[in-house]
Amino acid sequence: MNTRNLLIALIAALAALLVWLAFFWEPVGPRPVARVQSHAPLQLATAPTGGDFALQGGQGPVRLADYRGKAVLLYFGYTYCPDVCPTSLSLLAQALSGFSADELARIQPIFISVDPERDTPARLAEYGPFFHPSIIGVTGSPEEVARVAAQYGASYARQPANADGQYAVDHSSATYVIDPRGILVDTLPHGTPPARIIEAVRPLLAAPATPPR
Ligand code: NI
Repeated sequence: MNTRNLLIALIAALAALLVWLAFFWEPVGPRPVARVQSHAPLQLATAPTGGDFALQGGQGPVRLADYRGKAVLLYFGYTYCPDVCPTSLSLLAQALSGFSADELARIQPIFISVDPERDTPARLAEYGPFFHPSIIGVTGSPEEVARVAAQYGASYARQPANADGQYAVDHSSATYVIDPRGILVDTLPHGTPPARIIEAVRPLLAAPATPPR
């Protein structure tokens, strides 16, 4: 591991710690951290086909069609996830750090919450940037989220709540790679290393962001 990779790993670890502090650590009251329940990564429900969608972000509606000309990286999860989502988003953030500023301007990572009951657009607006400033978080009604998940073959299942009313949501953990035309071109499994994410995205950035006049 060279110095740069070590630095990236340290930054990712620090980011994960900050996320934990911001979203899970509650200094007031007798609420142990153990109330944040782990979950099982599920298999994909169906073969993903992709397609457009419209959901709500912290700054208003977010449509996949808004990002024509950019490569989009799509991930389904929830902010109370203690392990699977932070791991995926840390790997994604490390990959994003490997792109140039010009490349980053043509990449849009989107985190879709499958837990709209707890993940408000405002909470999601804070969550993504803890990992990388370019990650936006969106959600919608349970029906809207279910529809988008079905398009991409993502699966999720809410688990029974514990005595504190807290619950885990099992979910699949793939990252979907969508090209600048809005077409799903790759599905990266959970734990895909940053270098492999970069390999999947970089070729999509070769075309000009906007058609020549
Ligand atoms: Ni998760």
